[in-house]
Amino acid sequence: MIANKEILKEIALSLNVHPIHLKVFLASSEKITLENLKSEFKKQSEKNPKPFVKWVGGKRQLIQQFREDDLYPPEGFDSKFATYFEPFVGGGAMFFDLLPKKAYLSDMNEELVTTYNIIKSDVDGLIRKLKLHKKNDSKEYFLKVRALDVKKLSEVNIAARFIYLNRTCFNGLYRVNGSGKFNVPYAANKNPLICDEENLRKVHVAMKHTTIKHQDYSKVLEKAKKGDFVYFDPPYYPVSKTASFTSYTKYGFLKKEQEKLRDVFVALSRKGCFVMLSNSDTPFINELYSNLGKKIRIEKVFAGRAINSKGSGRGKVKEVVVINY
Ligand SMILES: C[S@@+](CC[C@H](N)C(=O)[O-])C[C@H]1O[C@@H](n2cnc3c(N)ncnc32)[C@H](O)[C@@H]1O
Repeated sequence: MIANKEILKEIALSLNVHPIHLKVFLASSEKITLENLKSEFKKQSEKNPKPFVKWVGGKRQLIQQFREDDLYPPEGFDSKFATYFEPFVGGGAMFFDLLPKKAYLSDMNEELVTTYNIIKSDVDGLIRKLKLHKKNDSKEYFLKVRALDVKKLSEVNIAARFIYLNRTCFNGLYRVNGSGKFNVPYAANKNPLICDEENLRKVHVAMKHTTIKHQDYSKVLEKAKKGDFVYFDPPYYPVSKTASFTSYTKYGFLKKEQEKLRDVFVALSRKGCFVMLSNSDTPFINELYSNLGKKIRIEKVFAGRAINSKGSGRGKVKEVVVINY
């Protein structure tokens, strides 16, 4: 049995596998050779789902860096018994990377949560509806589907509309106007992937032991226990007034909300949870998470984000990661 943490990390990184999955595999197999390690993880990675929506702030590109910098996953998190919480789940890049045995997710975007739940309960119905959207796709059709009143649709139709609009709208943005109506224009991409049947079926399997709710992130305080792992990826505090992108939902997420979130972070840390948070590298956020005791530290990472539609707004942006382990 390989006990050395550094060796374990090296092997996991070189095989491009998850350290938690490697640990579980090593503990459960008697005959370990490099060949069966490789083929086992190749088989596993082919089975792994990925996010089914494009989501602003999606963490897919950053996860490998988090791992290399030892920021994630927390070494003490025992994925066999403890629960993973992702209260601002969005596209769920971290959830799909970790693929925990037990997970509790939430988001304030009600249509997104309905979509996850339909993938869990009626993936066949959803695939049928998405195939119809794919067949009919055009700018006129997009505008008709976008104009539908969500309150009058069944849940499976809400989910199919949500994925269809996400796949065909500009940059996969989710933006609503003052009355909560989705208002992103059609992208006219060639051949957008509207119905990724194979991936949707994999997500369906991953959702088996997962609960997802439409609720405020602060509810995590009622559920998380000592040893659980909570990852917060909130709407970021704006780097400048014009760079502000906080309207994933009709609710904003500015100073007051960021302060309340910091209090929830500290309360979970006191409970004995492993807590990790991403945010923008701004003086306000740095100050918010400073002087909170020895355990809570701020690290910086670089992210290539493309939110701004003007070329000049693209490029590498520094972000902070706050952890208590
Ligand atoms: C930065 S995104 C998360 C991105 C995600 N980690 C990913 O990889 O796609 C922030 C998410 O928080 C959600 N949100 C905003 N306010 C919230 C609140 N008060 N409680 C829970 N979720 C909220 C938004 O709908 C959005 O999906």
